[in-house]
Order: sequence, then C-alpha cells, then structure tokens
Amino acid sequence: MTQDEMKKMVAEAALDYVETGTVIGIGTGSTANHFIDSLAGIKNKIDGTVASSRTSAERLAAHGIPVLELNNVSEISVYVDGADESTRNLHLIKGGGGALTREKIVAAVSHKFVCIADASKLVDVLGAFPLPVEVIPMARSYVARELVKRGGQPVYREGFTTDNGNIILDVHNLKIMEPVKLEEDLNNIAGVVTVGIFAKRPADVLLLGAEDGVKKLT
Ligand code: 5RP
Repeated sequence: MTQDEMKKMVAEAALDYVETGTVIGIGTGSTANHFIDSLAGIKNKIDGTVASSRTSAERLAAHGIPVLELNNVSEISVYVDGADESTRNLHLIKGGGGALTREKIVAAVSHKFVCIADASKLVDVLGAFPLPVEVIPMARSYVARELVKRGGQPVYREGFTTDNGNIILDVHNLKIMEPVKLEEDLNNIAGVVTVGIFAKRPADVLLLGAEDGVKKLT
C-alpha cells in the first residue's frame, strides 16, 4: 500500500466521527483533501463546514459542500485534519502546508479533534520534522534570533505567504521534550502569530493508516 493509499484509508475511517446535523471543521493538506472527497458522499447529512484554509474551502465548494464563516458558527462537533508528526500522547507538529494558525483556531473551537495520518507520522519525540512558525513579516529577523537562542535553526520558507499575509520560519534541529512548555514559550515571542506545536490542545483521537489497517490511539 502506498502512503497516499494509507492517507485515503484513514480519511474514510474518519467519516465515522461525522455527526448528522452538525458543522464539521476541515483541515488542510493531502490527507485532509481525501477527507473532503469522502465527505462529499455524505454532504447532505451535515449542516456545513468551516475550512482551515482557502485551498480547503475551494475544494469543499467544488464538491458543493457548504463552507461557513467561523464567526457565524457557534459550535463545531468535530475537526478532522492531518499532521506532520504525532506522539502517542497525541501532541502534534502541524503547519507543513502553512495553514497552522487557522488550523489551531478551528481545533480550539471544535468539541473533538480527530487527527488522520499515515503511520510514518508517529514519532517518539517531536522535532525531526522542522517546526513551522507563522511570523509577522517585520518581526522575521528578531524571531529568528530568538529561535536560535533556543537551539533551533530557523529557515525562511521562500516564496510562501500564509492566508493571513504572514511568513513561515521552519525551525530545524529541535528535540521537543516538553511540547506544552515550548508551545507556550514560542507563542510568547513578540511577532510570533502561531507555533506549529499542537500540545495545549492536542488531538483527541489519532487514526493511523498502516499496512494492516487503521489503528486508533486516544
Ligand atoms: C497543513 C498541515 C497538514 O495537516 C500537515 O502538513 C500534513 O499534511 P499531509 O496530510 O499532506 O501529509 O498541518 O498546514
């Protein structure tokens, strides 16, 4: 089975978490795209969706799935999204696709966060995947110096602007032993919009696609 087939398999498994007559939060990336495509088959069951990126909103709309403004929605029953890394505690690194800020907002609003990924995303310690940090453009050099002080090697993501008009620094060489603490610390650097550690609000369920089927971690 290819990595993409595993992503499709977990995306389909996540349909079990879709509750009739509710609003569903939608992530960003290739695994989330599979979920959007699967959701199209049961679109009449739901009231609508809130998307974590313009790209996902366009894909949803192309399927005729209603996309709502978060400000017009009071509750999201479940948020379904991929990840770049996950530990067994369901602490995540996200933001490989650069949508981390809106992803963190939609995850915060949602009652349940179901993370869908192929088995290669499961790690013992976060940080082998470079940690994405969304930064206000004028703060780029300052934030980069602060990240170096903390032992990271920030790399500017060339030619990329987030949906919020900001830049991304991908931080290499971090071994994240205390994800909650580092998430709080990095979020407090002036100029940082969002750090791609999802530990203060981890996933509630992790569905992992492997050769022998879908594994569920909670
Ligand atoms: C986007 C994300 C994605 O969930 C993450 O990059 C995983 O992507 P994929 O499903 O393509 O492997 O955080 O900002």
